[in-house]
Amino acid sequence: MRLDIYLVELGFVKSRGRAKDAIEKGNVSVNGTVCTKPSKNVDTSDVIEIAEGQDKPKGYFKLEYICEKYPLFKSDSFVLDLGSSAGGYVSYVLEILNNSGHVTGIEFSKDFRSELGKLSFENENFDIIFDDVFTIDLSNLSFSPYDTILNDMTLEPKDSISALIRISPVLKPGGHFLQVIKTNRPLVPKSLISMLNEADLQVEDVIETPFGKKELYIVGKKLEKV
Ligand SMILES: C[S@@+](CC[C@H](N)C(=O)[O-])C[C@H]1O[C@@H](n2cnc3c(N)ncnc32)[C@H](O)[C@@H]1O
Repeated sequence: MRLDIYLVELGFVKSRGRAKDAIEKGNVSVNGTVCTKPSKNVDTSDVIEIAEGQDKPKGYFKLEYICEKYPLFKSDSFVLDLGSSAGGYVSYVLEILNNSGHVTGIEFSKDFRSELGKLSFENENFDIIFDDVFTIDLSNLSFSPYDTILNDMTLEPKDSISALIRISPVLKPGGHFLQVIKTNRPLVPKSLISMLNEADLQVEDVIETPFGKKELYIVGKKLEKV
């Protein structure tokens, strides 16, 4: 059987995509030798080992990379995650936060109920709200105002930015935001930057990650009014 499929069957990782990533990054060994070929043929007589901490959604590694370039929050921050999905960003934030920090996730798909429910059960400082970012009553966000808002919703860039702007009243003045843009272009269109700036969300940088070329990460701050 293929090594990537076998890792999922053994329960080491949740999906074949994650198995492939772990193998290609050199985090899996077969009979004591690192193997970087997901298609390698293995069977039950082989000893398979995987480095700790590999079973995380890709978002975990993306956010880790972005935060190394542009620190978006501190260990005691209140963070709001729009479109939490399988909890990649949330897992990374939780690793950085201490007991005085908190993360709230909003996700409208019930498909992620078990992953997000488990994370919430295991972490007192994580709450998940199943709702739509476009219609949620902002007074339900009881940890408001937030130090940081992360927005990685799979939408057209303009729609996704509109969602961030709708939620931005709960971001503290001076608080940070991350806006993910799904695009094939190398640059963020000026019209999108203007949309953010007009809503007092000042763009400070645009980051590319090595995890796939179809995303750009806009980071910045909410203006502090004098
Ligand atoms: C790319 S995934 C987010 C991945 C996540 N950042 C991670 O690290 O695992 C986008 C998520 O946004 C959710 N989403 C899209 N539109 C939404 C909306 N209007 N309200 C809430 N969630 C939404 C989708 O259901 C999907 O789970």
